[in-house]
This record gives sequence, C-alpha cells and structure tokens, in this order.
Amino acid sequence: MPGEPITRRNFLWVGWSALATFFAASAAASARFLFPNVLYEPSQKFNAGRAKDYPVGVSTRWTKLQRVWIVRNEKGIYALWARCTHLGCTPNWFNDQGRFRCPCHGSNFSPEGDVIAGPAPKALWRCKVELASTGDLIIDKAVLEDRPGFREGHVYFVDV
Ligand code: FES
Repeated sequence: MPGEPITRRNFLWVGWSALATFFAASAAASARFLFPNVLYEPSQKFNAGRAKDYPVGVSTRWTKLQRVWIVRNEKGIYALWARCTHLGCTPNWFNDQGRFRCPCHGSNFSPEGDVIAGPAPKALWRCKVELASTGDLIIDKAVLEDRPGFREGHVYFVDV
C-alpha cells in the first residue's frame, strides 16, 4: 500500500527477484551462443539450359537473372561471372567490339575474361560448369577460378 513502510520481507523479495532475473537473462544469452547464425541464401547453382543451344560467341541470356555470361568458343563452353574485378559493377558485352566494358570506371575485358584496359586488377572469374546427363549446363557460381592454366581445366570448361 502506498505510504506504508517497506518491510524487510518485501525488500528481500525484490532483491532476490532482480538477482534471479539477472541470472536467467545471462543463462539465456549464454545459451544463444550455442546456436550459430545461419544465413539462408539462394543456391548459387542454376541450370542454364541445353549446351547445344549456345552458338559460338558470348551469350547474355543469364546476365540479368544470374549475372553470368555463357561463352562458347571453338573448343567448348565456359561461364564468366559478370562482376568487374575492380569494384564489382556489372560490365556490358559489346559484340561489335568483342569485349566487355565496365560502365563504372572503364575496365575492358576480353571474351576470355582477361583485362584489356582500365583499373581492374585481374581477370573476370570463371564459374564451375558441368554437363548434366540431359545435356543441360549446370553453372555453380560458388566455385570460381581466374588463374590462367587452372581456369581452362575441366571444372570450369566443358568441351561440347
Ligand atoms: S568497377 Fe569496373 S572499372 Fe571500376
């Protein structure tokens, strides 16, 4: 009741309650550390359709949806990640010039992904490419390579 003096019993009850609340909150916070933060992201793998549907040259079919170019040369197919290695803009493919040009700071890349001009420090990344039994191309953007000599390996290239 307001105006009544606080009894020793009530004072202790408030103190023990506060202490119990503190320990409960500490235990809950410690238990939270037992469970890792999981980030659920969309899969980096996608089916790019039939390999035989890609003619020789650079295909921009998946640039908007998956940020990938599918390139076929006389030996086979590889996939380039459409992300500039300078600061991450999306370059554009210019068929008449035979090169990718980044709109942000002017880097130019060859169809193989090598730097032709501009501030980009290294070649475009190539994505893992597999040929499914159905003849479809399976592109995995989570597995990347840009080193000459390695990027032409069977993981990043299919000879179809
Ligand atoms: S982000 Fe492409 S040149 Fe700077």
